Order: sequence, then C-alpha cells, then structure tokens
Amino acid sequence: MSFDRSIKIAPSILSADFADFGREIRAIEDQGADWVHVDVMDGHFVPNLTFGPPAVKAFRAHVKTVMDVHLMIAPVDPYIDAYAAAGADVLTAHVEAGPHIHRTLQAIRGAGMKAGVALNPGTPAEAVAHLLDLTDLVCVMTVNPGFGGQKFIDMTAKVRALRAMIGDRPVHIQIDGGVDVTTAPLVVAAGADVLVAGSAVFKGGSVARPEVYGANIAAIRAAARG
Ligand code: DX5
Ligand code: ZN
Repeated sequence: MSFDRSIKIAPSILSADFADFGREIRAIEDQGADWVHVDVMDGHFVPNLTFGPPAVKAFRAHVKTVMDVHLMIAPVDPYIDAYAAAGADVLTAHVEAGPHIHRTLQAIRGAGMKAGVALNPGTPAEAVAHLLDLTDLVCVMTVNPGFGGQKFIDMTAKVRALRAMIGDRPVHIQIDGGVDVTTAPLVVAAGADVLVAGSAVFKGGSVARPEVYGANIAAIRAAARG
C-alpha cells in the first residue's frame, strides 16, 4: 500500500446483500472501487451488530484492493491480532473507544497493519494532535456511527483543521457517513482523500446489475473532482 492523496472511493459493504458478500465485493471492485470498507459493530460501542473476525477473514478471499476495517467496538486491543490474522490492511479504532488509543495504534502497527483513528462528530480534531506520527489515517465520522443511510453532518471545519495539522505527514483523511454526489465535493475541498460510501454506491444496483454500482462510484468520483 503506497501513500498518495488521490481520491479513493471505499464502498461500505454494510449496504451490500449480507447473504452474498463474496459476489458483492467482487462486483464493487470490478466496478471501480479503490478500497473495500468493512464496518465492524459490537452492539455496545454502537447500537448495532454486524460481524467479527471469522467473517472478515472470509471477505479477505474476495478483496483484491485494500481491506479497510472500521472497528466500532470497545474494547479494541484484545481483538487486534484477530483482525491482523483476518487480513485487514487498514485497521481503524475510535478515539472514544477507550483510554489508551496511543497504545492501540502502536499495537495495530506492531501487528503489521496500517493504523487508523476515527473521530465521532462530537469529538474535536485536537483529540488526534499527539497521535499523528502513530497513525496512517484519520477517519472523520460525518454521521453518528452505527447505521448506514443517515444524513450527512457537516464536519468540513474539522477536516480543514486536520489537513493543516497533518501537514506533510503521510496520513489519509477519510470521511465516513452520508457521502454522496452532493457532499463529496465539500469534504474533498476541505482536504479529504478517502471517501466511504454505503448507500450512495449500492442504491439501485445488485450483483445482477453491477453496472449501477459502477455508475454510482463514477458519479461520486466525478463530483469529488469538481
Ligand atoms: C456508519 C458506518 C459507515 C456507513 C456509511 O456507522 O461506519 O461506514 O456504512 O453508510 P452511508 O454511506 O450509507 O452513510
Ligand atoms: Zn465505517
């Protein structure tokens, strides 16, 4: 995984057919996805439950690009090795998930993965000020985590502040929640480079009509480029 700030579209398989993940992953990659975003929820840190390490390991067999695993779980540290073994390329933990995010990011890198740190909408950019040399990606949540299909919360001021704090460091800014053709240009102008999109990619398509995924991805990318 080399670093660059080109726009990357990361469809969230939270909006895929849960009975058909393998074909869904292959369809979005064939249709232009740059990364595959995997939302892990524990019914405790967030009020919803998705899947754990064995399922993520099964997804890995189908991912040819980058498997980007977003942990919405607490605690995180006991599960880091399991997600490394499952084949995560990027593993993101929430700064709100526990008192020792610094240790968590060290452990993620120590297990051979890129380390991401996510910020809920109510958490200021300054929460990561002392973590920027330990992280490869800052995920700015533009919804309260837990569900797909929610309304975008404007965090462009936070993105701008992060972009300035990051400077020349090789740290991605990822946006997660409510990204579509209308909101993508706002966050990219503020400095984001990785756009997670669930409902806006999967809407209207299926594994039988994958070209709809392709059109949706292309539309977000074109809007983001302005
Ligand atoms: C929300 C998840 C997101 C979500 C995005 O808790 O982290 O990745 O799937 O879905 P949309 O794009 O529908 O807001
Ligand atoms: Zn996510």
